[in-house]
Amino acid sequence: MDARHLRGGVDRGGVNRGGVNRGGGTTGGATTRTQAIRALAEQHANRRGPLLPILHAVADEYGYIDDADIPVIAHVLNLSRAEVLGVVTFYHDFRRTPPAQHRIQLCRAEACQSVGAHDLFAVTRETYADDPGVEVSEVFCLGNCALGPAGMVDGRLLGRLTRERLSQALAGASEVGP
Ligand code: FES
Repeated sequence: MDARHLRGGVDRGGVNRGGVNRGGGTTGGATTRTQAIRALAEQHANRRGPLLPILHAVADEYGYIDDADIPVIAHVLNLSRAEVLGVVTFYHDFRRTPPAQHRIQLCRAEACQSVGAHDLFAVTRETYADDPGVEVSEVFCLGNCALGPAGMVDGRLLGRLTRERLSQALAGASEVGP
């Protein structure tokens, strides 16, 4: 792979940073996802190291990188599909499937483990195992160690989590505090 497609402009701060458009692209007035992806890729194509910024932009817009996006991006950057796919699969933060409507991320790091994160994670995973609208995943330290068990619900940082507080947060209950 040509290294110039990866240099510069790299932001490893996470790929799902809000602004997700799960219903379809609107970039540059494009009407289909393919057109929107092409427009996004062309916006960044002249940057130094455009591939990662493009993938981040797609992830921000749609929440994931679809298989059909890969040849479009490859074509704009004059790369092979394998080169683009290699980068997508190398960085585990890039989702390959649409995100669930709600996302619960529970901390499994040491400080949270010491106050019950293990059991909370197990019961939460079991609770939502058959719910395609809720995705439960683990993270390792959210910087909220003093308020463990810590976690995030739809991107919102929460502490002192219990099953009940998680349910409230999912329901959008305003009384759930930090
Ligand atoms: S250990 Fe859980 S937030 Fe730091």
